[in-house]
Amino acid sequence: MAAGVLALWGCGGEKQEKASPDGKADGSNPSDRGGGARPTELGAMTIGFSQLGAEGDWRTAETDSIRGEAQRLGVSLKFADGQSRQEKQISDVKAFILQDVDAIILAPIVETGWEPVLRDAKRANIPVFLVDRGVDVSDESLYVTLIASDFVEEGRLAADWMAYELGGKANIAELQGTVGAAPAIDRKRGFAEEIAKHEGMKIIASQSGDFRRSVGKEVMEGILAAHADELDAVFAHNDDMAMGAIEAIARHGLEPGVDIVVVSIDGVRAAFEAMVAGTLNCTVECNPLLGPKVFDAIRRHATGEELPKWIRVEDQVFDQTTAADVIGSRRY
Ligand code: AHR
Repeated sequence: MAAGVLALWGCGGEKQEKASPDGKADGSNPSDRGGGARPTELGAMTIGFSQLGAEGDWRTAETDSIRGEAQRLGVSLKFADGQSRQEKQISDVKAFILQDVDAIILAPIVETGWEPVLRDAKRANIPVFLVDRGVDVSDESLYVTLIASDFVEEGRLAADWMAYELGGKANIAELQGTVGAAPAIDRKRGFAEEIAKHEGMKIIASQSGDFRRSVGKEVMEGILAAHADELDAVFAHNDDMAMGAIEAIARHGLEPGVDIVVVSIDGVRAAFEAMVAGTLNCTVECNPLLGPKVFDAIRRHATGEELPKWIRVEDQVFDQTTAADVIGSRRY
């Protein structure tokens, strides 16, 4: 059905939607697919999940959460790995539209460039649910809701912890996430806003480590080569890059967590192990266990409930004082 609808749209861009059984196929009803109603029960749905890739532990935890919850609920889930390329993700979403899935879950690699494919989904009356990262679009009706943490706040919390522990004075190296990704943009902004309140806190080097451990390590080696003598702290936009930085600091003959304070974001198991070992000082949680939340949102939308544009995920701050006590209860 969607293929037919898309083909009609493809010719000259004129709207020629087929009439629904009640004759009111204006596309305004989320359960109106032009030829019949979409299921309202999750167990009867086929849902496409476009994951951006598998760059680290956090991403794997998110994928497992969504796949596991789909299985538990009896949802038929079509999974597509974007392999860290937006073009691949866009073609994955297009394929879901052609297959006329009942909903699309999208974890977008970067913020911009989604408008055309989201319009295609809207024309085919397929609701899109964003998980973990937001998009920059002129028309918010192109997606139902975003289920995600507050990345700006995460950056602020990391800066507050660092400012307090280092007495408002530190030369900082920042390892940024993927260029153009919402968490990289927002965490950078939140951190910068907060350290600006302390005259003695300065970012002396800032580079992208693409949210990857190996790149974080490589970038950190370069930063140490230029700034080891003056560096007090590292702010890594995720735990994976922090783990890479810790390796680089140790290889440089310095003690991570002591000579150079390391603060990151995510709260994956490796971060808790590093805090217990004393090499990581603090992690701001970013919860990847989004499966239950996204399927709950899809169910509520299918039964006609109006959802907020942002379903905010609450997070906590952990440091070495609490790591040993909570590590046993961590689920990712
Ligand atoms: O979008 C969430 C971020 O993406 C996580 O912090 C990070 O680990 C991942 O790459």
